[in-house]
Amino acid sequence: MSEPNDFAIGIDLGTTNTVFAVYRHNNAEVLQNSEGDRLTKSCVMYTAGGVLVGNIAFERKNSSSDDVILLSKRYMGRSPKDDEVEIDNLHLPWQQPINENGKLKFPVKERGNRRNFSPEEVASEILRKVRFDAEKALGVKRITKAVISVPAYFNAKRIQATKDAAVIAGFEVLQIVHEPIAAAIAYGQKEKLIPGSKILVYDLGGGTFDATVIEVKKKMSFKVLAVAGDSHLGGENFNHRITNKLVLELNRRDRVKLDMARDEFKSDRLFLRDAVEEAKRTLTAQREKQLSFQIGSHVYDEKLSRAKFENFCVDLFKQTIDIMSNAIKKAKLTKNQIDRVVIVGGSTRIPKIRAMLKEFFPEKTKHDYSVNVDEAVAMGCAILAAKRNGNQVLRDLTLVDINPFTFGVRVEEKNDAEAFVTKLIEKGSAIPSPAVKQQFFTYDESQTEVVIPIYQIEDMAEQDQKKEVKITEFTIKCKRGPKEQPKVEVSFELNENRLLTVTAVDLNDPNNTKTIKINTSTPNMTDKEIEARKNDAIPM
Ligand SMILES: Nc1ncnc2c1ncn2[C@@H]1O[C@H](COP(=O)(O)OP(=O)(O)OP(=O)(O)O)[C@@H](O)[C@H]1O
Ligand SMILES: [Mg+2]
Repeated sequence: MSEPNDFAIGIDLGTTNTVFAVYRHNNAEVLQNSEGDRLTKSCVMYTAGGVLVGNIAFERKNSSSDDVILLSKRYMGRSPKDDEVEIDNLHLPWQQPINENGKLKFPVKERGNRRNFSPEEVASEILRKVRFDAEKALGVKRITKAVISVPAYFNAKRIQATKDAAVIAGFEVLQIVHEPIAAAIAYGQKEKLIPGSKILVYDLGGGTFDATVIEVKKKMSFKVLAVAGDSHLGGENFNHRITNKLVLELNRRDRVKLDMARDEFKSDRLFLRDAVEEAKRTLTAQREKQLSFQIGSHVYDEKLSRAKFENFCVDLFKQTIDIMSNAIKKAKLTKNQIDRVVIVGGSTRIPKIRAMLKEFFPEKTKHDYSVNVDEAVAMGCAILAAKRNGNQVLRDLTLVDINPFTFGVRVEEKNDAEAFVTKLIEKGSAIPSPAVKQQFFTYDESQTEVVIPIYQIEDMAEQDQKKEVKITEFTIKCKRGPKEQPKVEVSFELNENRLLTVTAVDLNDPNNTKTIKINTSTPNMTDKEIEARKNDAIPM
């Protein structure tokens, strides 16, 4: 059992908002940041005096010429070659990343010096503030342990970037968990869930959409059946859409061609983005909202109705329903078999989205709006953090996640063209996975060693093509013997932290075994780079 003040916290590092929580007195509790807010803006501002993080940075972003970075999560673990990075670069009114020797970096001026920071370095500033604020809220000197959530579609590189950010901020990451699973944990803690029932978690945040189908095995035991998502679908896209449509209207009305991307409109752009964000939120509770903004000398001052907003964005809303439908299909279920729909993420407050969900599912499906859409993910992370930190009350909590990649051994034939990867752990299988075994033969009798090349098979974006990536290889000595007989048995086992354990055993000599452990996430920053950043500036 851990000491009462040996806290491990849960962190939902969101595209627009970050939330952190702790589990104590048998309860998950969202903590306030040092400004007294439960949501911390995922916003970092570099100034002559140092780094400003969170709501203070967000509030000052329009009135200062300092470098502001928002939405850094969208760039974590990605490369400038990634097509999607281009999409993100469209007219966003804050600091954009550049390509520095094949890596995405944000150019900023910090304490008078020009520096280029990676997205994970930017995110580490947010996490560092979270650590300080959590220490203050809990009245302890040092918190080091955390469980952090990531979107379900994050690949190994993006997960590793998140871990790197946490390590720079001084955390030991007990586990990375998928946001929808964390939400399901928080939900499962307060609701009586029937074993065998299927939950759909619909998570629409600021930058991303995730739909996840989860099966309840026992009260606190969950198995992910399928995930689907879009890393470019969220509240910011709705803002972007509304902005474009309104500017188009203004252009038509005044018979002009105002291009919002122009530098001269930078401050108008900043203002417009905030006005649109506010109007969108107001339209949850009201049917219309007066919206005024200015681009150069052209003034727009009209009512934006809820119906008009829905009309602007309906195709984006519909995309979420299609993705969700695909997740249900991937889980080999029909919508009739979904017992409950749990919604999370700030954008699920939009009435039209709730209505579309109601319309999609049959009447018997329970739509649960009882979890706090902003806080459920952080609360689930906190519950998991307490379990990982040794809380016995949570011993029944188990998770079976799904593995996003296929892993196998490349069987080298004498003729290279015939080489192929024998799959041991398939994409979509459960994590943690039990040991999966496969026997291998040698090509001839004289062979006294076998090389085991370990491969990961990844899906290529947008296409049905696969990419085979060699992770590593190792060699095991073996006794000579007839070539038709199996020589070596290889087993693959993947744990909940995606650590792949590969063991090879010589079948003619069971004492001859070799085991390697592979972190299936690829590091983005070197250990040296991480260490160097760890001791850097403290947020003001
Ligand atoms: N009342 C509302 N109506 C419409 N949208 C809202 C409302 N309240 C918040 N939002 C939107 O919710 C989004 C933020 O949601 P949330 O905090 O869940 O996102 P996040 O966790 O930062 O992002 P992600 O999960 O995508 O990484 C913002 O885009 C915001 O505009
Ligand atoms: Mg979120």
